[in-house]
Amino acid sequence: MKKTLLTLAALLSLGATMAQKPKAGESKENYLQNLLNKMTLDEKLGQLTLFTSDMASTGPVMRDNYQLDIKSGKCGNIFNAYGPQYTRKLQSLAMHSRLKIPLLFGYDVIHGHKTIFPIPLGESCAWDTLLSEQSARIAAVEASADGLHWTYSPMVDIARDPRWGRVAEGSGEDPVLGSAIGRAKVRGYQGTSLKDKSTVLSCVKHFALYGAPVAGRDYNTVDMSKQQMFNVYLPPYKAAIDAGAASVMSSFNDINGIPATANSWLMNDLLRKQWGFKGFVVTDYTSINEMVYHGNVANEYEAGIAALKAGIDMDMQGAVFYNYLKKALDENKVSMTDIDQAVLRVLGAKWDLGLFEDPYLYCDPKRAAREIMSKENLDKAEEIAEASVVLLKNKGNILPLQAKGTIAFIGPMVKNKRDLIGNWSGAGNWTQSTSLWEAIEPRMTAAGAKALYAMGANVTNDTNLIKKMNIQEFIDKRSQDELENEAMQIAMQADMVVMALGESEGMSGEAASRSDITLPGTQLELLKKIHGLGKPVILLLSSGRPLALSWEDQHVDAILQTWFLGTRSGKAIGDILFGDAIPTGKLTMTFPRSVGQVPIYYAAKSTGRPFDPNQKYTSKYLDIENTPLYPFGYGLSYTTYAYSNFKLSKNTLAEGEYFDVQVDVKNTGNRAGKEIVQLYTRDLVGSSTRPMKELKRFAKIALEPGETKTVRFNLSSEDLKFFNYDLNWVLEPGKFKVMVGPNSNELLEAELEVK
Ligand code: NOJ
Repeated sequence: MKKTLLTLAALLSLGATMAQKPKAGESKENYLQNLLNKMTLDEKLGQLTLFTSDMASTGPVMRDNYQLDIKSGKCGNIFNAYGPQYTRKLQSLAMHSRLKIPLLFGYDVIHGHKTIFPIPLGESCAWDTLLSEQSARIAAVEASADGLHWTYSPMVDIARDPRWGRVAEGSGEDPVLGSAIGRAKVRGYQGTSLKDKSTVLSCVKHFALYGAPVAGRDYNTVDMSKQQMFNVYLPPYKAAIDAGAASVMSSFNDINGIPATANSWLMNDLLRKQWGFKGFVVTDYTSINEMVYHGNVANEYEAGIAALKAGIDMDMQGAVFYNYLKKALDENKVSMTDIDQAVLRVLGAKWDLGLFEDPYLYCDPKRAAREIMSKENLDKAEEIAEASVVLLKNKGNILPLQAKGTIAFIGPMVKNKRDLIGNWSGAGNWTQSTSLWEAIEPRMTAAGAKALYAMGANVTNDTNLIKKMNIQEFIDKRSQDELENEAMQIAMQADMVVMALGESEGMSGEAASRSDITLPGTQLELLKKIHGLGKPVILLLSSGRPLALSWEDQHVDAILQTWFLGTRSGKAIGDILFGDAIPTGKLTMTFPRSVGQVPIYYAAKSTGRPFDPNQKYTSKYLDIENTPLYPFGYGLSYTTYAYSNFKLSKNTLAEGEYFDVQVDVKNTGNRAGKEIVQLYTRDLVGSSTRPMKELKRFAKIALEPGETKTVRFNLSSEDLKFFNYDLNWVLEPGKFKVMVGPNSNELLEAELEVK
């Protein structure tokens, strides 16, 4: 550490100068071509290289050799380094390189930078593209104020298997909703101009299909028909790219036999030629090297060639381009044109950010102090946290609670702050977040009521898992019996019990697939015992994925799905629990009854033997129904809504024509609320079989008690098209169903005929 700082200081004492600034009016092409002409091969490969900084506990520290690489122009991009002073120091090393090409600083700003928002799966349950854009905007403002230029977000992988831990990072199972959120995120990060210093480059990931690994096991193979790709999995990437995303990250996985990182069809043909993507493609972490294990190449030398040829521009952390492309060029396995075009794409992003004019544009400590974790940012985090909560059950309208009598708060999530800000909270500091206890205890006391607390159980007792997740310090060392007895004692004194249970944040996210998606550890046992006391039980659930909650659904009185809500978690949950805020979220991923139904999703096909409980030889299980526990789009509130007057503006449609769908939605309860209205279609007969429902539109409307609003959706023949067996985008004549309602399972229907 000491040595590192000395080296830095020594280098800095040389005094920094800047790259030659663009001349007034000079075009990007001209400037970059001139620069390229001056570059040595090593300098070119440096621009194709991205290395991580080491983030030590005392602050970010770089390994010595990276400093030298930066200074010699052999590393042009750094990730995992932030902070205006630190990035300035590193940038000044680049300003001592021969050509003074500025470094690009990237980081995983996944759901906020320091103000942490809900995990993406949670936030998607708000079905609110404005909120999605606003959280990305704030993340970009904070990240750019903290020295960053580039975020590895949005993750738009469609995910239909909750065993896969990374479902937490995406927007769920649906391509239309996923596309809308992907676009919103790109708008939020990149704003209207990358030259604006409050914007960052977005990076659409993981291209492609990372969300469909076999058996939900992370990094596993993906084997998928092209029809499924084009109709379901690819649209969100395309949407984010059409919205102007500046970069794309290749996925780790093997796609139909060729890993994405060497998949020329994916990068060259689809992404660049067909979709017209003009930005740069970075690999995922060491994914070039990993192709040796995939077995599509014999060694790293071949892997590097395959990746560059497939259209990869930047090697994340693997040093394969750095180590092998010179030899590949000497042996004519790649051309200088291949290298140059990748270099120009990377330099292009630096130009777009304004770094050639001022490499220190993002290194202003005053700005960081002013803009990071401001009150407005935190308030927005609270608003979004509230909008992400989904009420799954509310028997006898037990919620919202009144702060009276004695309420026992039991569970590992009551006083927990670390887990509640969620997985991959990047630069977020959990100690700055509010716990549920901090939010509810003062309010109970102020109302003259009594709040009791017991932990009751650890999140898990699996010592291996505890070690892997590095959560030893959060584990209560008392025996399970002791923890449970204490919880039973306080529950017996209470009028009702609020159980805050769930997964630890590290049980979802990368490398966190689970084969059992029930409540981990002894939490379900604890819940059963507490329930056995016969008192009302409210369940608050923190998780990064849909859990299988059959027992819980049958027995407890109310269930609030609270995901991991970020910095303002406790406050948001408390407000909803006591009714200062109203739950409005709806699920964006189907909740199965048991893991055996997985993958389960609403847009399923009919099969030739549609489910019939009375017919043995139909498509079903012997031991469980086909239906999910909670369907896609589902969520209750503290008020209710009625749908009526559902109409289409026409009953027949020709290519190029538009039609309107309208429905009246009335708030039939006695609280003001917001309802998420959903529109689905079904193509009854297709040249290829079609899903039984496909989401096409949604709207979120605010309604006062008793108020009715007419919701109008405008659709066109484009909305009824699909990629047919030959991958043509077609409108096929015939009958369609148009359906509107509060979730994918409760829908009003009308018919439309395409001529
Ligand atoms: C691996 C992950 O798959 C990716 O999402 C992330 O952006 C990179 N590591 C960088 O941290």
